[in-house]
Amino acid sequence: MDVETGTSSGPELLLELDRDARRGLRAQLEDGLREAVRSGRLAAHLRLPATRALASDLGVSRRLVVDAYGQLLAEGYLVARHGAGTFVADAAGTSAAAAAEPRPSVPRFDFFPGFPDLANFPRQAWLRALRATLRDAPDRAFGYPDPRGALELRRAIAEHLRRVRGVVADPETIVVCSGAAQGFFLLARALDGGRIAVEDPGLPPHRAILAAQGARLVPLPVDERGARVDDLAALAAAEGPIDAVLVTPAHQSPTGVALAPPRRAALLAWAGENEGLVIEDDYDAEYRYDRAPLAAMQGLAADRVVYMGTVSKTLAPALRLGWLVLPARLVDRVVSEKLLADHGCATIEQLALAHLIAGGAYDRHLRQARRRYRARRDALVEAVARHLPGARVTGVAAGLHAIVRLGQAVDGMRLMQAAGRRSVGVYPLGYAYMDVRPVDDGLVLGYANLAEPAIEEGIRRLGRALEDL
Ligand SMILES: Cc1ncc(COP(=O)(O)O)c(C=O)c1O
Repeated sequence: MDVETGTSSGPELLLELDRDARRGLRAQLEDGLREAVRSGRLAAHLRLPATRALASDLGVSRRLVVDAYGQLLAEGYLVARHGAGTFVADAAGTSAAAAAEPRPSVPRFDFFPGFPDLANFPRQAWLRALRATLRDAPDRAFGYPDPRGALELRRAIAEHLRRVRGVVADPETIVVCSGAAQGFFLLARALDGGRIAVEDPGLPPHRAILAAQGARLVPLPVDERGARVDDLAALAAAEGPIDAVLVTPAHQSPTGVALAPPRRAALLAWAGENEGLVIEDDYDAEYRYDRAPLAAMQGLAADRVVYMGTVSKTLAPALRLGWLVLPARLVDRVVSEKLLADHGCATIEQLALAHLIAGGAYDRHLRQARRRYRARRDALVEAVARHLPGARVTGVAAGLHAIVRLGQAVDGMRLMQAAGRRSVGVYPLGYAYMDVRPVDDGLVLGYANLAEPAIEEGIRRLGRALEDL
């Protein structure tokens, strides 16, 4: 391939080569160029230095630069224009190339538990919804948003939640927020330093949000039947009165168990007797593969339960859209916190989501996604049986992640590193406890963002990584 870049030498380029490194100079040069394109230091359409000039700047042979340019041309990072030189590819070409290239910091087989299938975002349906919104929205939609959320979206959510989750939902008691994350932020502020019992293990970032807003957190242990609700009385005796209990009843995060019906009843009884609040994080209840899911607890005690939902598992975390269905007495407090936080969520995306839900595309997407994730969960269970002797998948067949019990405790950090060297991302369960357990036998593995062959290969490599230890 001719990659001569013309007579002018082009821009200065800061690239450092380490002559003592084990990695060869050509590989270092290629890495440096790729990194510069990805990070935007080399902007799209920029002309690269002539090979001769760069070779002389770097003190390497021209052949080496020609080969490195040739490799990046083949990968799509660069484009050659005959007689004009070599240029950085435009953004589309760059991102396609970057996506195809495994980055050292993002493992190729990443079992990160927080993702739905990012490649399966309903781009066309979303585009249609956005287009319809921009065409039909009245001018006033472009003013400051309603801090409670766009009425169209609150209506669509209320109808959807009544139908699929048995939630007692009225658009007047719904507050749209920037994902569950902001829901926790708003609730902690509205509870004003209240004591909140949180499932342990749970999700550390959510605990951090609650604590940062002044909530006093009390660990509520979890066993195979979900949160140990009967412990609440003893916890209150030891720590002081508990104002709220945060649970993930449909699919405990992260252990994957479902809250047993007697415990659901006991939790609602606790709330009634103690004027307490239950925060029901229903983050992935759309996905149950072996039977119909139980309806949300909120439907049984709408005055005691805050119901929390999100599109992070159904559509994409990037949308940052979620909702709280609140007991009526909490609505004003939460809305004033929302106003103080950000004046309300972006209206156009809310209207597009309302369009997606009300027009049926949301349900269609969920039906298709459910089939896809069920197959991926099956693939995980099979791969574990094949490649990890002594290990098993625990928790109910639901959601987008599962717990794998390895059958022996391992040092989670060392396992992460060993797996990382084989380009596999795994997430030790021990780090989800309030009192971290560096040595534990559990892994939290998300399977939704990996196709079946990648799940199989990732688990095979995990088996090797365990042998490395
Ligand atoms: C337990 C739990 N709740 C809620 C969410 C969604 O959070 P958000 O809506 O802020 O993306 C997640 C996402 O991973 C989760 O694991």
